[in-house]
Amino acid sequence: MVFPPFFRLADFMDVFDLVGDTPLLDLERLGPPSGVKLAAKAEFLNPSGSVKDRAAKSMLLDGLRRGALGPEKTVLDATSGNTGIAYAMLGAVLGRRVILHLPANANQERKTLAAAYGAVIVETDPLESSDGAFLSAKRAYEAQPEKYFFPDQYNNPANPQAHYETTGPEIWRQTEGRITHFICSLGTSGTFMGTARFLKEKNRNVKTLIVQPDSPFHGIEGAKHMASTIKPGIYDESQVDGEWRVSTDEARAMARRLARECGLLAGISSGANVAGALKLAATLPPGSLAVTVLGDSGSRYLSDELWEEPA
Ligand SMILES: Cc1ncc(COP(=O)(O)O)c(C=O)c1O
Repeated sequence: MVFPPFFRLADFMDVFDLVGDTPLLDLERLGPPSGVKLAAKAEFLNPSGSVKDRAAKSMLLDGLRRGALGPEKTVLDATSGNTGIAYAMLGAVLGRRVILHLPANANQERKTLAAAYGAVIVETDPLESSDGAFLSAKRAYEAQPEKYFFPDQYNNPANPQAHYETTGPEIWRQTEGRITHFICSLGTSGTFMGTARFLKEKNRNVKTLIVQPDSPFHGIEGAKHMASTIKPGIYDESQVDGEWRVSTDEARAMARRLARECGLLAGISSGANVAGALKLAATLPPGSLAVTVLGDSGSRYLSDELWEEPA
């Protein structure tokens, strides 16, 4: 068959090409103070549905480049869910098996999605949360290092590098260099570290702040309570200009507001990010522009009671 001339091979893409370049959404409807702009990166629009597509893509491509992810290797890592779904999707394209260690209490949607892309799931002690999953994956890798590619997202510089090369530049461009504050919660801390580093290099006056769960025993899935858990190797506190605490109830209430006032179905950590960003915005002078992240979709929490208004 002869293809018409406009039908060029260069137009073909695969899911790797669909990662990133997400829109920046204006959160005006949530009522930031007059003269203060609040915006959020719509990371749920990434092809596997979360911000973690960026880090997974970067770590897998880095593994291929270094020759550490040969065709015989199985991708193995610890994840609270979203990175695992991203590895599973990209691993399918690369033809690599994917094994994920995740806490048994990770929600069913995440386990089902990762399995839908063909990943194998190893459930770890829910009481040990993400630290338990990390130690379990590390033990499996150390027992058979020749079998696995272990990206080790908590300690892999290619994780924050993804955000230094993509999330940061996108925000800079989308705000025409007028961003004054960046704020988000921490899982591995890759999103915060890479984005903060890029933005501060562009303008050292940009303030970069973190959102933290207000208690070690919280229900903000994917968000780490730094003071009480293993500190990721990629985390560098010197980039943190301030911290806003958010309760699980505040995060969940904000996820419902995003859905019901903005038509944005985002997850619980997105609710935490926006709740923290609104607290920050209330302290800022007119002319400020704060950006946060909607890390994943609310459709990932449908089995949760999140969407029911508390009595
Ligand atoms: C759903 C979700 N996952 C992950 C993250 C951040 O992950 P990491 O710190 O590993 O880059 C965020 C941050 O906002 C998030 O909302």
